[in-house]
Amino acid sequence: MEIAARTALLTGATGGLGRAIAQRLAGAGASLVLSGRREEDLKALAESLPGDDHRVVVADLAEDGEAERLAAAAAGVDILVANAGLPGAGWLAEFTAEEVKRALRVNLEAPMLLARALFPEMLEHGSGHLVFVSSLSGKSASPRTSVYNATKFGLRGFALGLRTDLAPRGIGVSLVSPGFVRDAGMFADTGAKTPPGMGTTTPVAVADAVHKAIVEDKVEIAVAPLLDRVAAHAGLVSPAISVRAQSGSVGQRAAAEVTGAHSKDKR
Ligand SMILES: NC(=O)c1ccc[n+]([C@@H]2O[C@H](COP(=O)([O-])OP(=O)(O)OC[C@H]3O[C@@H](n4cnc5c(N)ncnc54)[C@H](OP(=O)(O)O)[C@@H]3O)[C@@H](O)[C@H]2O)c1
Repeated sequence: MEIAARTALLTGATGGLGRAIAQRLAGAGASLVLSGRREEDLKALAESLPGDDHRVVVADLAEDGEAERLAAAAAGVDILVANAGLPGAGWLAEFTAEEVKRALRVNLEAPMLLARALFPEMLEHGSGHLVFVSSLSGKSASPRTSVYNATKFGLRGFALGLRTDLAPRGIGVSLVSPGFVRDAGMFADTGAKTPPGMGTTTPVAVADAVHKAIVEDKVEIAVAPLLDRVAAHAGLVSPAISVRAQSGSVGQRAAAEVTGAHSKDKR
């Protein structure tokens, strides 16, 4: 699908990756519906982008009914980029039940409900594209990440399953799965180092992948250095080996440093 003159709903637009994705899609000629919880930041972002027909819809996707309200406000868009997410970081015992529900709702339920509400009109128009921003944590699991792993494994399954339904009907469904992202976003915000041997990618590389996923109708694009992509893929091919390796002292220490640096405010 060509992006010029299309409309796109982008969730998590105010985040580190969201801003880069907004810039990339607006630069390619799309009109954006930008969503997040912070109205002033969304408006400032809209004004900073190329093009003059971007809109802002404030929505808290952890709240009941908000995904449906956002979808209604964005009805008729050609593209959904479901990017909003919470880090879901930490040892399960440290989560309240409410925090588990928020992570599931923002990272998994809201993308599902947005897709459910938006794709029927895409079918009527005969074209459309749904992009789900997942993570390499949707392919392989690591210590103190079980809540996040659950949401991203779930999102990956949802997107791949939905693609089998919608691809024959002319609607694209893609996953964009970044590894650790430097410079901006939830990992960069922690100031933590990557685990030994792991590298980083950039928000611009993730935004380029979103663009490519739409234009070339890709099933999944993993955005990370080769070694990180191979390690994540190993988690799919051989979960037993991957889990054993991650459970060792090196994996535990690295995970404790990264997840411990995430702000509890992001739960
Ligand atoms: N950064 C990385 O290293 C990395 C790696 C792999 C995957 N990812 C994925 O990439 C996506 C974007 O992450 P990021 O790094 O850009 O994170 P971020 O900088 O923390 O931004 C998160 C975005 O999600 C929005 N959001 C959070 N809670 C929300 C809620 N309850 N309702 C509506 N919007 C909400 C935030 O909006 P407001 O706070 O303004 O409301 C913000 O725009 C996520 O799905 C994440 O899992 C990131």
